[in-house]
Amino acid sequence: MLESVEKTMGEIVASLGDARVCALYESVPSGKRLRAKLILRIAGAHPDAVKLAAIVELIHAASLLHDDVIDDALTRRGVDSVNACFGNKTAIMLGDILYSKGFFELCALPSAVAQTISNAVALLSLGELQDVELSQAFHTDKTAYDQMIYNKTASLIEASAKAAAQLVGKPWEPFATYGRNLGLAFQVVDDILDITQDSQTLGKPALNDFAEGKTTLPYLYMYEALNAQDKAVLLSLFGVVLSPDQAVWIQEKMRTTGALARAIDHAKSLGKEALEAIAKTGVEGLDKVVIQMIEREF
Ligand code: IPE
Ligand code: IPE
Ligand code: MG
Ligand code: MG
Ligand code: MG
Repeated sequence: MLESVEKTMGEIVASLGDARVCALYESVPSGKRLRAKLILRIAGAHPDAVKLAAIVELIHAASLLHDDVIDDALTRRGVDSVNACFGNKTAIMLGDILYSKGFFELCALPSAVAQTISNAVALLSLGELQDVELSQAFHTDKTAYDQMIYNKTASLIEASAKAAAQLVGKPWEPFATYGRNLGLAFQVVDDILDITQDSQTLGKPALNDFAEGKTTLPYLYMYEALNAQDKAVLLSLFGVVLSPDQAVWIQEKMRTTGALARAIDHAKSLGKEALEAIAKTGVEGLDKVVIQMIEREF
């Protein structure tokens, strides 16, 4: 069914009738399709499930096009990003096309589904704004971090699960709780992988968050655990392109302070909350999504 999602996404873009846009869109590799898989598992039997999954993946792709401009990121999904190849203007406009085409198709789905998804996109954009604001200086505000990752990442994953349930007329609350916790865990894992994986495995720059000014959860935990002297060292590395020695220092302190282990525990406990929420729904395979997401390497 994922193949049908890919095909539908291509058709939606092709309906614009512009060969250049089609070629540009085709040059972007597929991602993990987490959000599509989630929708298909919950609403797979519904005739509009593939359409909904395609819309959400187009919207997600649009958010990544804009995110790479915002983050000045030159790699995405293992290849040079659209902004790196064709410039920021092209990346922004292709993002706008994918967003708009997604919303156009969304209008043909039940209004509750359309409202759930479009509301999440507003939250996602707010989250990107909060992420940029928080990146201006080092911070120790865990509440602000939690709010920001809910908005930028968990809101669309929550909305995917909720909208899928709405599409098939299931009570949506447990699915929304599942999606929210899965989404929060997903971003915490993304923040952990930035520290533990190399760029090749990630398909995007590694150890890049702190250099970009992002005080992610592992850094919040690490700062808490460091002595005064090491706190000063960490602060001196904020927003800095790291030398190999500095990178090793961060990775080692992440382990010796237990910050990384603590962040992993936090992701696992969010995953557990996700699983508890859907235990009684009888929908198969949602537990596997959580486990794969936590154990992933990119
Ligand atoms: C990347 O999302 C952006 C985040 C929310 C961390 P994914 O990791 O789902 O990206 P793809 O679609 O698999 O490339
Ligand atoms: C997630 O934030 C971006 C969106 C939800 C659009 P990041 O900036 O952490 O995502 P990556 O790491 O570039 O994939
Ligand atoms: Mg980014
Ligand atoms: Mg970003
Ligand atoms: Mg990231």
